[in-house]
Amino acid sequence: MKRIVLKLSGKIIDNEENLKILSEKIKSASNFQFIIIHGGGIQITNLYKKLKIEPEFVDGLRITSWEEMEIVEMVLSGIVNKKIVNLFLKNDIDTIGISGRDNLLFGKPKEEKLKRVGIITKVNIEIFDKLKSFKAIVISPVSNDEDFLPLNVNADDAATAIAIALKVEYLFLFSDVEGVLDKNGNVIEKINESKVEELINYGVVKEGMIVKLKSSIEAIKKGVKNIIITKINNSFSFDNIDSNNFKKTIISS
Ligand SMILES: Nc1ncnc2c1ncn2[C@@H]1O[C@H](COP(=O)(O)OP(=O)(O)OP(=O)(O)O)[C@@H](O)[C@H]1O
Ligand SMILES: [Mg+2]
Repeated sequence: MKRIVLKLSGKIIDNEENLKILSEKIKSASNFQFIIIHGGGIQITNLYKKLKIEPEFVDGLRITSWEEMEIVEMVLSGIVNKKIVNLFLKNDIDTIGISGRDNLLFGKPKEEKLKRVGIITKVNIEIFDKLKSFKAIVISPVSNDEDFLPLNVNADDAATAIAIALKVEYLFLFSDVEGVLDKNGNVIEKINESKVEELINYGVVKEGMIVKLKSSIEAIKKGVKNIIITKINNSFSFDNIDSNNFKKTIISS
């Protein structure tokens, strides 16, 4: 059974219709085991609001104090992860949900000023062998440092690190945009490293899209063949990805 890695944006998982469409696609893709990493920035911000905490971002990354780390972990590994897992279960997909802290993702703090924001240093892929029989494994990107304490890892970073470690052919980054948009708002069909630099330098790509593209380029350099940024839509199938016809950005070398 081949593995495929998907990343789901927090922005699309409160829309049950999206998860339903995805469930149908997963069920009909008989050749794949699905490794699914999710974000949840919106859900974290919503709880911050209730708790009257003002989020602070640097290049799309949320500065995370120790106290805020507890909220991030609660929301991502608790609420968001279990929501996706149970929607899949309800749709008869044999699913298990884990977090990076279940002996899967290890990292270290990225920069002092970002506090508990982490980057991945190791993916323990043995966990995937132990979970071989599941159709879908849903992963919260919260990771451990070397002292087994939590790190807030951006979900795009976690997804690309897992795609690299598993040497998968396809990584899908499902977001709330149909792809990377140019300065006129049109989807760019294909991009490579130099184009990414240009888009960031000219300010066409901003916020969370900067992280997404930087980690994608890293993954392409390290052997992931195809990274596809798109929205969840009804017109694709995981069984013949290359002949699919829907709006997307493909990142390649
Ligand atoms: N040139 C661009 N093209 C497309 N989106 C862009 C661009 N520049 C900035 N963005 C923003 O990047 C966002 C996607 O990144 P964001 O981090 O917000 O979501 P995500 O990574 O898909 O989800 P999550 O962070 O919850 O995992 C888009 O919703 C859009 O607002
Ligand atoms: Mg993001």
